[in-house]
Amino acid sequence: MTDQAKLIVGKKEYVLPLITGTQNERAIDISQLREQSGLITLDNSLGNTGVCQSSITFIDGDQGILQYRGYPIEELAEKSTFTEIAYLLIHGNLPTRKELSIFSNRLNESSLIHEDMRHFFEAFPKYAHPMGILSTMVASLSTFYPLPDVLDPDAEEQFMANLISQVRTIAAFSYKKSMGEPVVYPSFRLKYVENFLNMMFSSPVKDYHQDPDIVRAVDLFLILHADHEQNCSTSTVRLVGSSLANIYAVISAGISALWGSRHGGANQEVIHMLERILASGGDGKEFIERAKKKNSGERLMGFGHRVYKNFDPRAKILKQACHKLLSKPGMNNPMFDIALRIEELALKDDYFLSRQLYPNVDFYSGLIQKAVGIPYDMFTVLFAIGRMPGWLAHWREMVHQEPFRIIRPRQVYIGKTERHYVPINERPEQNAVPV
Ligand code: CMC
Repeated sequence: MTDQAKLIVGKKEYVLPLITGTQNERAIDISQLREQSGLITLDNSLGNTGVCQSSITFIDGDQGILQYRGYPIEELAEKSTFTEIAYLLIHGNLPTRKELSIFSNRLNESSLIHEDMRHFFEAFPKYAHPMGILSTMVASLSTFYPLPDVLDPDAEEQFMANLISQVRTIAAFSYKKSMGEPVVYPSFRLKYVENFLNMMFSSPVKDYHQDPDIVRAVDLFLILHADHEQNCSTSTVRLVGSSLANIYAVISAGISALWGSRHGGANQEVIHMLERILASGGDGKEFIERAKKKNSGERLMGFGHRVYKNFDPRAKILKQACHKLLSKPGMNNPMFDIALRIEELALKDDYFLSRQLYPNVDFYSGLIQKAVGIPYDMFTVLFAIGRMPGWLAHWREMVHQEPFRIIRPRQVYIGKTERHYVPINERPEQNAVPV
């Protein structure tokens, strides 16, 4: 097998190295191409571009395979916990008992946010979207937790613990604010997920009863969202982080990228879609027909993925979790039946099959969150809590890997060629409106 690729442009031939990953993924290394030939490559939306070499997460989108640090997601989902997964992603290996205990203690000790920050919540309007609050508050952490000039390993461990732990506190505080209730502080007696649920749902007049099935469902949700290699928000974290911006600002940028409905915001859109279908009395057939029409402005939310051209393994796991959770007494949700019906119809439909559109992680995740009692506009916030270890692992990998340079893509310019300034009173009227 050759380890070189040849590019012929006109009469010239360029030899480019081939890089092979540990799972035999192959790539043409074009990093010297411009220097050698004056050419750049053009890849709109970066669908065919590898931006780094990474050892965190492996996806085979054709086979529907997802692995964190080499461990299949199915095994981790069954056997692990979110705290352990956070350790695994950031440190590269599963922790020993002692390592996990030190890591968990650090998370616990880092869970409070500075008391002065609590007052920030009062200034947001009641209708503020929690993702807007989350990105603002995470950026504000930079002012309360200044970083040393030189980030030694201990400083890194500390701000990572702050972010993993405080994001959950901020999320719960923003929910309490929207409910007009006093905030509930984190407790050192509770584990990561129990702590979050307690801060969300207990109040001075009502204790929160922890149901192990709900705790497990939230833990599972967070595990499945913990990393997904170079997705839009992680790429944002790498891009902003490459300028050496403050880590809290970097993560705030990642949260903003996640908010969009093509990315993390899709889980909220799926529930809106299922609700509309349920309210119309249909079984989803009509909606599917609309989603197939380009100009209808609709898409089948929770379907399709840039990388998976087969089942998203996370969707399979969450579908099973829905079956389990929603079969509990009092938890039945007719939207789950609609979701199952839509999946059945879409997977028989040539439109979806020919475009390789399968359910993605967001198709069933909203149903889990609804069963837990998470309000709709907090769905993407939970995604952000889950994705935090992944963002941090990618940031850490990038800053410690050579070459570490600012990310600065190029472009093919298609605008006007050089022209000259015309004073305003000499400009013809038709040029007044900018294009
Ligand atoms: N419903 C109907 N048609 C679709 C859908 C859909 N959900 N997704 C893609 N298509 C069609 C699209 O119209 C296009 O058709 P044609 O070839 O005739 O022009 C074709 O499939 C390819 O679509 P694309 O937009 O070029 O694909 P992409 O890889 O750029 O986009 C996606 C991927 C996830 C943004 C897209 O599938 C989508 O918008 N899905 C719905 C939103 C969603 O569920 N997002 C969550 C993604 S997974 C979690 C995460 O990453 O946060």
